[in-house]
Amino acid sequence: MSERHPIPYGKQHITQNDIDAVTEVLKSDYLTQGPRIEMFEKAFSEYIGSDYAVAVSNGTAALHLCAMALGVNSKTKIITSPITFSASANCVRYCGGEVVFADIDPETYLLDIRAVESMLSEAPKGEYQGIIPVDFAGRAVDMEAFRDLADQYGLWIIEDACHAPGGYFTDSSGQQQFCGNGSFADLAIFSFHPVKHIAAGEGGMITTNSEELYHKLIKLRTHGITKNSSEFKNSLDLAVGETHDSSLKTQDYPGWYMEMQELGYNYRLTDFQAALGMSQLGRADEGMKRRREIASRYESAFEGCEFVKRQSGVVEGHAYHLYVIEVDDRKGLYEDLRNQQIYAQIHYVPVHLMPYYRQFGWKSGDFPHAESYYSACISLPMYPTLSAEEQQFVIDTVKNYYA
Ligand SMILES: Cc1ncc(COP(=O)(O)O)c(C=O)c1O
Repeated sequence: MSERHPIPYGKQHITQNDIDAVTEVLKSDYLTQGPRIEMFEKAFSEYIGSDYAVAVSNGTAALHLCAMALGVNSKTKIITSPITFSASANCVRYCGGEVVFADIDPETYLLDIRAVESMLSEAPKGEYQGIIPVDFAGRAVDMEAFRDLADQYGLWIIEDACHAPGGYFTDSSGQQQFCGNGSFADLAIFSFHPVKHIAAGEGGMITTNSEELYHKLIKLRTHGITKNSSEFKNSLDLAVGETHDSSLKTQDYPGWYMEMQELGYNYRLTDFQAALGMSQLGRADEGMKRRREIASRYESAFEGCEFVKRQSGVVEGHAYHLYVIEVDDRKGLYEDLRNQQIYAQIHYVPVHLMPYYRQFGWKSGDFPHAESYYSACISLPMYPTLSAEEQQFVIDTVKNYYA
């Protein structure tokens, strides 16, 4: 019998088509920002259902640019979930803003709208400026409900949809609303890190239906520079520079001219990453189908098992970046799985308990649901190429541990 390969919790799937797509770019004239960027942006916005998409170097950069585009500064206070990757909160800190956490709903593991609502209703008017809900594990946030709430208090929303391209919730009129489709959140962000649905090595995308925010983001992605003459602020004389050749002083800004109008960054994606992302996007539906099959199999395998306190389960529209079970003796299970080369993971150490955030006064006991979830959660292997035989081995190993 051949030796079993290690089984990670998540893994990219690279096909010959992906390799060909990247190779084609490497043989072309473009490495960074070539034609593939716009092609990828267009294909991605069509897939998600948003009007605009802006490709950037990673999901964290996407969050940072969103915070900048929305004008986050030292007077900004936002609310987010403690059960997420730190980047969801950090983007506000990059701009000097304050992060306030609210507890999760223990049933969905998502930011609890009731907790957010009570914080908003108890705070002085204008205390908060934004909310960053996270489609954690791939489960779609009811963004319609968050939009209603945000509108009552005049807040913006950044949807962290890193775990959920292709995920959706059903709105009050029975319509499927895809994560990040721009109908509710002002801005949404995605990541193309290898464990995510679409892998580009590193990479990120921002989606929006706001033309104004779209133009801001495009500029901020490249140092705050614009080459669009209709946006230029400096006079034509200044743009032409010192010259004795009066024929140069035409009505047009010279071809070389560009303006840095605000402080931006280099958060560009490369053309070969865009080619890989686009090739992967072509298989996104296939991958989602497989993720949902795997989830369904886990759910039935663990149904009725006493050691499973709660599990992700089968939920319509769930994108299953992660499949979580909550168990007793989680540390023992984690180590037993590792001994069998099954590399399950814990998502996440609550962000409010990170030493960086504890310095602002957050402490154990602040969010009982998030902390109780953290003490029991474990993310089981979930990726499209996980074979039925490998999944069975994972299930058997978990069950044997508690037998
Ligand atoms: C929920 C969430 N937000 C943001 C990020 C940041 O994305 P990236 O790693 O592409 O910077 C991640 C990635 O791990 C994530 O899981």
